[in-house]
Amino acid sequence: MHRVVLIAPDDFEGWRDAARGLAMARVDPADIVWQIGDSPGDLFGDAGLPPPRSSGGFSVSRAFIDLAQSALFHRDPERFALLYALLCRLRDRPGLMEDKADPLLRRVDALAKAVRRDIHKMRAFVRFREVGEGDALRFVAWFEPEHHIVRANAGFFVRRFAAMRWSILTPELSIHWDGEALSEGPGATRQDAPDGDPVEALWKSYYAAIFNPARLKTGAMLSEMPKKYWRNLPEAALIPDLVAGAQRREAAMIATAPKAPPAGPTNSAAAWGALRTEAMRCTRCPLHQGATQTVFGEGPLNAPLFFIGEQPGDQEDLAGRPFVGPAGQLFDAALAEAGVDRTRAYVTNAVKHFKYELRGKRRIHQTPDAGEVQACRWWLTQELDILRPRLVVALGATAARAMLGKAVTISRTRGQPIALDSGAEGWVTVHPSYLLRLPDAAKAAEERARFVDELRMIGERAKALV
Ligand code: URA
Repeated sequence: MHRVVLIAPDDFEGWRDAARGLAMARVDPADIVWQIGDSPGDLFGDAGLPPPRSSGGFSVSRAFIDLAQSALFHRDPERFALLYALLCRLRDRPGLMEDKADPLLRRVDALAKAVRRDIHKMRAFVRFREVGEGDALRFVAWFEPEHHIVRANAGFFVRRFAAMRWSILTPELSIHWDGEALSEGPGATRQDAPDGDPVEALWKSYYAAIFNPARLKTGAMLSEMPKKYWRNLPEAALIPDLVAGAQRREAAMIATAPKAPPAGPTNSAAAWGALRTEAMRCTRCPLHQGATQTVFGEGPLNAPLFFIGEQPGDQEDLAGRPFVGPAGQLFDAALAEAGVDRTRAYVTNAVKHFKYELRGKRRIHQTPDAGEVQACRWWLTQELDILRPRLVVALGATAARAMLGKAVTISRTRGQPIALDSGAEGWVTVHPSYLLRLPDAAKAAEERARFVDELRMIGERAKALV
């Protein structure tokens, strides 16, 4: 019998080193006891043989490493043994990772999925509360993960909240960031974490403002935000009342639905500010991983004109503002020629993180796919709900997809008003970077003039709808 002592429940490196040696020595999975720290590994208490040292090796696919790196954080005590058994089978059958029907692979895959879900929930549901610490501020959050994910998730919080001093307390372990270094401490209890602060009031009023009774789907809401997390979410205290009042409010909304386009802005600065703050931490699709920051919309909240671009480019990603690079400069010039004041328009993007491919040191723009546009509509829809502009203009195909919820052909859609569900008037035109890419100078000039004409017509429509 071999005994492997791992230093912690999430000791992936310890498991990997031991498993490699054991698999090379062809040790049978049934002959290994996996133990964490000094806890009793089996009932017989024998010291067991240490794992053999590995020499040479065999390679496993990246897919297995990724799977193991997630599954190993599961709470299931059998995870080390299951992963080792899978590793042994891969040694003899490298194609096994493709066999989605294999029962062992399916079981390990289910562990990995549960862990990834838990990681996502922690990212979505950690809510920091402000506490004073001498002259300084610290933000403290309480979270109860289902699996051993806290260390694995620490990097995410460091990147997202690099400028804050914060602690995340969990029953097993606490992690602390002082602005420079991450440290660990013992587990804590809920009573160790503070219970509400001034930021919470703002967050609650934002949540209540964006809660749309007509879109209430309690099933979907519970699966996205399971009840067990509600205790730690300030906004959750509002949910029962909001749900109870939803039918009444929906009926009132129908009765008072505007017959004409919505009449201007809601009282919304706080809601917009809270939405922007939340979007800064967006992880709804993988694009946040490579981007410098979320580039949120900007402009007056009572702007009658609302422009949607595609996604931030290289310069926007660095500056944190939409349309400031070459396409933005062309856009500004075209607006000026059309007599539309950009400072009176709200400008945002369908996708709020820069999608690119690295070529050497250069970041080359890549078009966002339908899934990324859909994930990011979460923010766009709320920007539209808060601002309630009279006119919404989609610049290019990605923006049109985001505005209309389906793909359209620009040449067939441009130049005419479209009635949007919100009551606003929608327009589709080309994206300024399309004009920058046209190789033929005469064609580029012609297309630019058409773009300016459309902007002029849209600007006049905006004035007429006031
Ligand atoms: N292109 C866009 O669509 N948006 C920007 O913000 C910049 C370039």
